[in-house]
Amino acid sequence: MSGPNIPDDAAPAASAASAAADDTSPVSAEAVAAAVTAALTAFDDAADLDALKQARLDHAGDRSTLALANREIGRLPGTAKAGAGKRIGQARGRVRAALEVRQRVLEAERDERVLLAETVDVTLPSNRDPVGARHPLTTLSEQMCELFVAMGWEVAEGPEVEAEWFNFDALNIDPDHPARQMQDTFFVEGSGVVLRTQTSPVQARTLLERGAPAYIVSPGKVFRTDELDATHTPVFHQLEGLAVDRGLTMAHLKGTLDHLAEAMFGAGTRTRLRPAFFPFTEPSAEMDLRCFVCDGTDPVCRACHGTGWIEWGGCGMVDPNVLLACGIDPDVYTGFAFGMGIERTLMFRNGVEDMRDMVEGDVRFSRHYGMDG
Ligand code: DAH
Repeated sequence: MSGPNIPDDAAPAASAASAAADDTSPVSAEAVAAAVTAALTAFDDAADLDALKQARLDHAGDRSTLALANREIGRLPGTAKAGAGKRIGQARGRVRAALEVRQRVLEAERDERVLLAETVDVTLPSNRDPVGARHPLTTLSEQMCELFVAMGWEVAEGPEVEAEWFNFDALNIDPDHPARQMQDTFFVEGSGVVLRTQTSPVQARTLLERGAPAYIVSPGKVFRTDELDATHTPVFHQLEGLAVDRGLTMAHLKGTLDHLAEAMFGAGTRTRLRPAFFPFTEPSAEMDLRCFVCDGTDPVCRACHGTGWIEWGGCGMVDPNVLLACGIDPDVYTGFAFGMGIERTLMFRNGVEDMRDMVEGDVRFSRHYGMDG
């Protein structure tokens, strides 16, 4: 509806013109002041940045009262434009300034809240529970070595990828010995190297490097093309021992192994040496332990098959051919050597029944059979 005296076709301009003077017009001083008050109150009331965002859209956005009023200016008669423009411009300036102030206050509050929420008290005791656990094989292997170190022996190491010469030839294992066949050994084709099948090559390495006398133990991984089952694994660990000196006899060998057996399985552990053959020792023997399960009383015992004894490792007096291959005079020096499985030792010692559990990597296994501390 247009006011009196104003022709219909002049309605838009006339309404804006009349609005300049009209208290209810959006550009009037009252309307602008009310819009500013409403905006400032809304900003003050905004308790957080989300609420302030909404207040900004309502009171300083494109469709806010002041933005609409601003758009009206262009439609005012020339005389009214300047006053309304100034009034609305100042009002919008005040609103923007108040918005900025409130924005900064709320941002500071938010930062403080976040800082508090994310505070780390560096004086609190940390969680000292280890996430993993040492593997019992590592610990056992170290304990075995320490026993020898305490007697003045040294720990020697050799490579896991070994020259065939060290793994076989130096140890008096001739080329057609069954141990060289494909089913026992991981050959690296055409290279003259193998994944070592035993730790015994460290014997030859040590003698060549250090000469005699020598007292060494050598723990480490060995590899054979065995299937993985409860009592076999294609990768396992051995502890090798070698002593070369003047006047060493089998009595020294037996005494040394008994000492190790008692340390591993307790005082009074019974052992026996049973004749055997190894190419690099002469004479050779298997070192047996009294059966842990039946103590020799059960003729159908599943652990010892009724023999009363369980095989632990091989041993013997170092074959003179090995000493010769390593430049040691067998007329001056004698030596003894032994080698046993560390997995086997762990099985007998701690009652582990399935070797596969040792390679699963389940920390519960390590914790259960761990022997640290
Ligand atoms: N190397 C042998 C094996 O893996 C074990 C062994 C036997 C080591 C006699 C020795 C030894 O040092 O003297 O079956």
